[in-house]
Amino acid sequence: MLEYTPEVARRTADLQERVKDFIPSVEWPIVAPLIDAINELKKTKNAVILAHNYQTPDIYHCVADFVGDSLQLAIEAGKTDADIIVQAGVHFMAETSKLLSPDKTVLIPSLEAGCSLAASITGEDVRRMKQKYPGVPVVTYVNTSADVKAESDICCTSANAVNVVEALNVDRVMLLPDVYLAKNVAALTDVEVIAWKGLCEVHERFTAEEIQRYREATPGLVVLAHPECSPDVVADADYAGSTSSMIRYVKENRPARVLMVTECSMSDNVAAETPDVEFIRPCNLCPHMKSVTLQNILESLQELRYEVTIPEEIAGDARQAVQRMVDLQVEGRDFSDGVAASVTVENRVTLGPVAGVSG
Ligand code: 13P
Ligand code: SF4
Repeated sequence: MLEYTPEVARRTADLQERVKDFIPSVEWPIVAPLIDAINELKKTKNAVILAHNYQTPDIYHCVADFVGDSLQLAIEAGKTDADIIVQAGVHFMAETSKLLSPDKTVLIPSLEAGCSLAASITGEDVRRMKQKYPGVPVVTYVNTSADVKAESDICCTSANAVNVVEALNVDRVMLLPDVYLAKNVAALTDVEVIAWKGLCEVHERFTAEEIQRYREATPGLVVLAHPECSPDVVADADYAGSTSSMIRYVKENRPARVLMVTECSMSDNVAAETPDVEFIRPCNLCPHMKSVTLQNILESLQELRYEVTIPEEIAGDARQAVQRMVDLQVEGRDFSDGVAASVTVENRVTLGPVAGVSG
């Protein structure tokens, strides 16, 4: 049984100050022993916690060693000299870490930490797409499983998608599986984009009408959107980019009032560091991100669970696709400047009489 001792109170006092607006002081005696135990175990086991920007403030501000968007977390996973990586995020992120740090133990604290985009497509789907569009390079969003990455030429994230597509120097690409990201990329490039009908269950819910209502109710509101939102929402935003690009925008521009059209824990995390900015919060939560908690992070470190492994037969090709993206070292653009462009959208491709494929 973990106790809130005077030593725990002393060791966690700075952390409490950081999250005081998000964790009521009556809850601190329950939360602090978990935070303290995690931070002690990290030292004894030489472990790091890589946390996505959507993690709750207790994880983001009190136990994470590194926080960031999908691209930054992938880069960090390849650099760390820890023996154990605990991924405070979702499963595809942990797989990406394992691909880039194959000799390390990579743990995901929750088996519920999936992703609607990753679940929308399989390696078999990509093989069918390649048969339908022979010779067209496959760019897959990192929000995919390793078997999908293994079928890809290169990966991308929301931070670098446009530049990855353009770096291939081709007229046509497949950009899978997020149809909204594909449309938002197509709006910024002359490269023809073939998409897949996957959606993020958090970002697909936002509408341009909802954004308009927030603008009417809040004069001077600055709207930031994630490119997993529909092109209508992105076009209505003042700025659109990856989660870290949005955070950077707030820190550099200090808008008086801001609406971040994305998963809602992120506003809490940034608000803790920018008290002068007022955040308007439409609360769309990602249930997968929220399935990671202090309690299961602690259990993950204590029992080394749940270890992420990738079958050898796919790991090599998947690693190559992720590594190519990392090696490109390209960063992002503001998505809100795009001009709507049409994309071909595929889903569960049925092929004609192609050898070895039916249906
Ligand atoms: P980024 O942090 O890479 O922008 O991705 C957002 C997201 O939805 C990850 O699940
Ligand atoms: Fe997947 Fe969307 Fe959740 Fe990110 S926010 S993990 S894209 S479901």
